[in-house]
Parts: sequence; structure tokens; C-alpha cells
Amino acid sequence: RRVQIIGVPMDLGQSQRGVDLGPGALRYAGLATELRRLGHEVVDAGNLPVPVRDSLDPADPGRYRKAIRQVCDMLYRTCLQARKDGRMPVVLGGDHSLAMGSVAGSSDAGRVGLLWIDAHGDFNTPASSLSGNVHGMPLAALLGEGDPELVGIGGSRKRLRAEDVVLLGVRDLDPAERERLRASGICALTMRDIDERGMGQVMCEALDRLAGYDRLHVSLDVDAIDPREAPGVGTPVPGGLSYREAQLVMEMIADTGRLAALDIVEINPILDDRNRTARLAVSLTASLFGKRIL
Ligand code: ARG
Ligand code: MN
Ligand code: MN
Ligand code: MN
Repeated sequence: RRVQIIGVPMDLGQSQRGVDLGPGALRYAGLATELRRLGHEVVDAGNLPVPVRDSLDPADPGRYRKAIRQVCDMLYRTCLQARKDGRMPVVLGGDHSLAMGSVAGSSDAGRVGLLWIDAHGDFNTPASSLSGNVHGMPLAALLGEGDPELVGIGGSRKRLRAEDVVLLGVRDLDPAERERLRASGICALTMRDIDERGMGQVMCEALDRLAGYDRLHVSLDVDAIDPREAPGVGTPVPGGLSYREAQLVMEMIADTGRLAALDIVEINPILDDRNRTARLAVSLTASLFGKRIL
């Protein structure tokens, strides 16, 4: 397959410093080499120009929404161009707000199923959010809810319907976000589901839900994985996916042959242990791109 790596060193959607270093961490962990070893043709398009947080007004009442919007619009166009060039976008974050751009790009090319792998729902609106951080809002914005500035990324329209989305690995929702998620009808497969039925079964359910889509966008927030395995994240939540569960998720998506785009977000190398989290993410990406044991 032909793959285009797009770095988005954006840390504007949350408050911990260091997520902007994620693209470098993933490159140093050997992402492109690993994909090439699997036989893929990889072009690294470098990083999008993202405003450095320190150059912006720290008291911005909009929580950098204007800048985030601009970066996401640019990412949206970059993903469209990648697809025109016959390349699958692999987007390196940066915080999860970038998915408003990448998923908008995927949805432009027709119906797309979204697998959102995350400890969190990222289904807040400015009204439901406790933190005000935009990285807790991208999924809501993609369904047309929340700040019009964010909903309008890639041109104002609702990008996805609830039935296009499966959430996997959820275990931390804000109270109002939780009510919103329950009312939305989105399929959320939580850690409890995984504990009760096992990862293999839950993944079958996830893929069943998305069976009618010939293109799948995978948005991998590495905080879905247990912080013991993936400590380099800004919003760790205990009780996450094990190394083996996460690998199985990737292998089962790979088996569908329908992967259309990937985001790898929320890696914070400053909080990491010798780039361990990025190395894990590279290993998971290899499984997603067809690496097999036998
Ligand atoms: N729910 C919390 C918030 O709204 C945490 C969001 C975490 N999101 C993430 N992409 N890591 O702030
Ligand atoms: Mn997230
Ligand atoms: Mn998260
Ligand atoms: Mn929380």
C-alpha cells in the first residue's frame, strides 16, 4: 500500500505541555522503517505548520479554537490531497483535536466507518466540558455538535452520523458528556464489555457494527492503552487495554482489509519513559498494517 505520513505537532487542545513532540517521537521510534519493512511505500510529508503555543495569547478566551480550526482545515485539505495521490493518510499527533480535520477528510470521500479507540469519549461540547479543553470535543464536533467554529471544519456540515461510529476502550466520561453519549446512540464498547466478553468477542461486535462500510478510519488515542504500558500521555486513566488486547484490535482491523486512514494521537514524550509509548504505537501500527506472527 501507499502511505503518507502527516505530522501535526499541535498541543493547543489540552493543557499538558509536550504533545506537540509526538510526531518526532513516532518517527524516532521507526514508524516509516517499520511500514516499509512490511512492503508499503511510505512518503513522509513532514509536519504541518502549527502555531507554537507560547506565541499565542495564553489568556485566549476561545481556548485557541481559531488556531485549532486553522490547523484542522489545513489537515483536512492535506488528507484530501493524499487520497487524490492514491496515498493513505497516517496522521501523527499532536492532541486529539486534529481528528476534526483528518476524519472530515475521510468523510469527504464518501461513507466512512470510524473506530475511535480512547479511554475518553471526546464527546463534550463547550457546555458539557469541565475542562474546556478542545481535545475532549472532537467527536461531538464531527457529529455536528458544539462550537460552530469546530463543527465547520472542512466546510460546515455534519460529518458523521451516530451509527457510523464505534468507541472502543472507554472508561472515563465527564458527567454531562456521559449523558450526551448515552442519548446519542453511538455504540460505545467500554472496558467493562472487554472484561466481560473478552477483546476478541468485543472486536467482532465492533467490526459487525462497521460491516457495511468499505472504508474504516481508525483514530487511536494512545491513552486507550493501560498507562503501565503507555505512560507517555497527558490524561492517563488506569484500567486500560493491555498490550495484547491492543495488538489484537489492530490485527483484527488489518484482517478486514478496509483501513482507509489512521490517526495516532496524544503521545507526550515529555511524560514518557524513554520513548516507550511511541515504540508501542509503532508496534501497534505495524500490526494494523499487516504484520503477523506466523
Ligand atoms: N473528558 C476530559 C475533557 O473533556 C478529558 C478528555 C481527554 N481527551 C483526550 N483526547 N485525551 O477534558
Ligand atoms: Mn481522545
Ligand atoms: Mn483520551
Ligand atoms: Mn475525565
